[in-house]
Amino acid sequence: MSSTTRHPATYEAPPNIALVKYWGVRDVARALPYNSSFSVTLAGMRSHTRVEFDPALTADLVVLNHAAAEEGPRLAVVRFLDRVRSMAGIRERAHVESENDFPTASGLASSASGFAALAGAASRAAGLRLTDRAIAQLARYGSGSACRSVFGGFVEWHAGEDPDGRDCYAEPAFGPNHWPQLVDLVVLVRDAPVKEVRSADAMQTTVRTSEYFPQRQKEVPLRLKKIRAAIGAKSAEKLFPLVMEECDSFRKACETSRPSLDYLTSTSRAVIAAVQHANESARRPIAAYTHDAGAHVHVFTLQRNLARLETELGAIDGVERTLVVRPGPGAHEVSTRSAPTARAGRTRAPAARGRSRSSAR
Ligand code: DP6
Repeated sequence: MSSTTRHPATYEAPPNIALVKYWGVRDVARALPYNSSFSVTLAGMRSHTRVEFDPALTADLVVLNHAAAEEGPRLAVVRFLDRVRSMAGIRERAHVESENDFPTASGLASSASGFAALAGAASRAAGLRLTDRAIAQLARYGSGSACRSVFGGFVEWHAGEDPDGRDCYAEPAFGPNHWPQLVDLVVLVRDAPVKEVRSADAMQTTVRTSEYFPQRQKEVPLRLKKIRAAIGAKSAEKLFPLVMEECDSFRKACETSRPSLDYLTSTSRAVIAAVQHANESARRPIAAYTHDAGAHVHVFTLQRNLARLETELGAIDGVERTLVVRPGPGAHEVSTRSAPTARAGRTRAPAARGRSRSSAR
């Protein structure tokens, strides 16, 4: 394809929260995980990424949240673009502009939404026409969890067993409207530390040093199966204990790593304790906590318990604010404006629109 027929492309992609955590890479070169994982794609938060390959450029230009990207994130984007260039057989450098409408590197999975949006926009701008499954397969080279943000609703990332990764892929398990009563109350804690080590690196410390990691690998497949079934049956009483069990297992894997990994603050721990207390008082599971490699806590509950939990958890000392989030749509292409600077100054991405792409899932 000649460079004159290439056009800029823009994608939006949401973050996701894992109910079954990806934690451990079995093959770094192929970006293959040890275990399958399962997540909820979150509505109302997005990365918005525009890519244009330009023959006049001598180096990739990467702008993140309206500022030139720092060296680490810039290199990650350049390496990702190199992969796209080699897939498409092109050499042009690219202008990448990406912004999040939620805090970056705060534990709200900005790398997942960012690389899902970059995979869609860069592949499209390079002239590739990929299915969503192929976009997800590409996205995981930027950030493993990004493959799940390509799809909406409840998403499973199959680890597979093939050494070449042919059976490693993400796919939607249930759509965003499957269980309308289920809500995620995101409890944002004040002074959440900025993540200094990429999860992709931190998890390999666990693989190498945690005595508990092999045991966790044995536990995860059955827990994932039960979590998928509980969501299928819309059973909060079954789902919530399993979600907490999985979160505790993830935390144990982190804590038994050497050096030990601790992502929580005292406020995060107070939120977890308050959820345990709410369940004990109700004498049944009315909520479930989970967290990723960050200090914010996601509390899943049903709509009817939301107001009470919002008040209780919002009043905990050190809680900055709470957000109510529901399952939402996955990544999709949006119309591209002619110049990236045309969007400068905008703080929020436009409302999610329907898919503008006809590619198969
Ligand atoms: C704890 O694949 O997102 O969120 O891009 O380095 O952040 P980085 O790695 P990533 O790791 C995700 C780890 C996790 C669990 C999960 O989302 O499954």
